[in-house]
Amino acid sequence: MENIPKAEQVVRRIWSFSKALDLALVDEEVKKGFELEIGYRHGERVGYISVRLGHILGLRDKDLFLLLIAGLMHDIGTVGGFAEYHGNYRLMKEHSEIGARILSDFPGGEILEEAVRHHHQTPSDHQIDSIMPKIISLSDKVDIIMGRGIISYKDRARILNHINSMTDKDFYPEVAQAFSKLVGEEAFWLSLNEGILLEPTLDFLFGERCIQDCSRFSDICDDIYGEVFTDRLAETFGNLIDQKSSFTGRHSRTVSGIAVALAEELAWNPKEVRDIRLAGFLHDFGKLAVPKKILDKPGLLDHDELMIIKSHAYHTYKLLSSAAFPKNIVEWAAYHHERLDGRGYPFRLEAQYITTGSRLMTIADIYTALTEERPYRKPLSKEKALSILEKGVGISVDGKLLAIAKRVLL
Ligand SMILES: [Fe+2]
Ligand SMILES: [Fe+2]
Ligand SMILES: [Fe+2]
Repeated sequence: MENIPKAEQVVRRIWSFSKALDLALVDEEVKKGFELEIGYRHGERVGYISVRLGHILGLRDKDLFLLLIAGLMHDIGTVGGFAEYHGNYRLMKEHSEIGARILSDFPGGEILEEAVRHHHQTPSDHQIDSIMPKIISLSDKVDIIMGRGIISYKDRARILNHINSMTDKDFYPEVAQAFSKLVGEEAFWLSLNEGILLEPTLDFLFGERCIQDCSRFSDICDDIYGEVFTDRLAETFGNLIDQKSSFTGRHSRTVSGIAVALAEELAWNPKEVRDIRLAGFLHDFGKLAVPKKILDKPGLLDHDELMIIKSHAYHTYKLLSSAAFPKNIVEWAAYHHERLDGRGYPFRLEAQYITTGSRLMTIADIYTALTEERPYRKPLSKEKALSILEKGVGISVDGKLLAIAKRVLL
């Protein structure tokens, strides 16, 4: 990853976080009973369409870059509550408001905040000055009416007719005009049909037709890639992950705190402590892809449900790797269900490949889960939780680290 330009790495990182949101959005829609999984790649499609429209409308460099971030993240305010929000005007406004508040903490926050706050505004509501929310509003609706099958020639005409007939009502005229220009480009439709839009977006942004002068937004790239914001991003997503289930209110934060306490007891250096803190916040990142009804199911899970729950560790690995996090952070986060007896998941790693950081995370995760309430039981006491961990020594729990954990936790 080191030889990839910073701006591109930043796009990859934000893209990966947006993919996690898209996975969460699918769940929210299924809950609502939609037949179409609109959330499937929704953020990334809105990001791509927005960038293409933004370019036609004259946005360049930093503005185009921020438009991409806003498009990718525009529905960040829906996690944990979209089923209730969708289709209800007041609540549609609310998720835009929640999302705007979350993005206000991002580098470039003011612009992102405004873009997300108004992403469901239409010309018939009231006029807005900024072009970004107008672009995202059209991209969002276009993506929904496109559906998820292959877009035929007939579909293209249908979409364009719809936009023309609803211009001034649902769509802002200047953006509708840019869209009618874009639809003439064969590659635009073909890339949407192909599905994976990261490469076409990177190609477009940094390719010949739209060479971005990265130096003009290097401050934002440095900020996004810097430690302060990366930690912030991890905390934000840790909170979103915890919000998904009614029983994991502070799970990620607590796991992170315990992992840090254990690392400090082991006299790790500040850089390593910071890394494990971040890995703790994101260890269950892949849970954004697990349906809430499975996370919250009272009673025993069947085989299929168990398989879906277990997939979260795999998704954590994939999402963090594609977000270009260093190997140690990816492993400390994603290996927390690996076991010393080689029977863990998702990789069934043998003990020699499970490093101290991952072993610490396993202890922090099991201890936290046991001392939290679950749909099927009350929270256990510290002593009881540690005695259960003791039974796992040599199987899933490292005995020496557990001895240290007892000193810290009791
Ligand atoms: Fe939305
Ligand atoms: Fe949306
Ligand atoms: Fe987990």
